[in-house]
Amino acid sequence: MLTTEQNSEAQADNLIIAIDGPAGAGKSSVAKALSEQLLIDRLDTGSMYRAVAAAALASGAELHDVEELIRLANGLEVTGEGRCLVHGTDVSPLLRDAATNTAVSVVAATSEVRAVLVALQRSWAKARSMAGVIEGRDIASVVFPDARLKIYLTASVEERARRRSDEGAASIVRRDAVDSTRAASPLRLADGSRELDTTGRSIDDVTNEILSWLK
Ligand code: DC
Repeated sequence: MLTTEQNSEAQADNLIIAIDGPAGAGKSSVAKALSEQLLIDRLDTGSMYRAVAAAALASGAELHDVEELIRLANGLEVTGEGRCLVHGTDVSPLLRDAATNTAVSVVAATSEVRAVLVALQRSWAKARSMAGVIEGRDIASVVFPDARLKIYLTASVEERARRRSDEGAASIVRRDAVDSTRAASPLRLADGSRELDTTGRSIDDVTNEILSWLK
């Protein structure tokens, strides 16, 4: 149990910025800009779920083979440059493949995989003295409920589809539906999260608004 003094010290040290939201809401661009402005690292947790899905597809594993998915998740390493290695194999070039876009929803709905990746995400932050910009779907609701800033980015479906034109509107809508309705840590607006609609707004504009919330 922390004393009140230790607790307020921990709060003062906490520079975790949690960003959640559906595909194409602007999370990655805004996270990158915030990390550059604040000189802190950023972590794209979507790429971690993608890496497990891509590794499973590459090895021909059954997506419902939970033991195998856990084994792959335990072999995940995110490098300083944000590349994803699974048991030493760099799967980064496969992360945005159409097959990965489909498989990642199944992997992300597997609570045993989520437990492994959430632990990795918390260690990542701990190794950085609890300073970092972390984006995903459950960052404010599950991974870092005590983050200094909790942000939920949204944008119209049309704009999100335009930003992710390589994936296509139908795939985005399907993924969002699965991500928001699954039993394990669904995408939702967490308690204390500030919602921000990025439709028609520039990255700089959105980033500056978020930075003003830190003051
Ligand atoms: O952010 P993205 O589109 O690269 O994420 C890929 C998938 O990973 C997304 O459809 C849902 C899942 N995901 C998740 O369940 N939890 C996270 N923290 C991040 C992503």
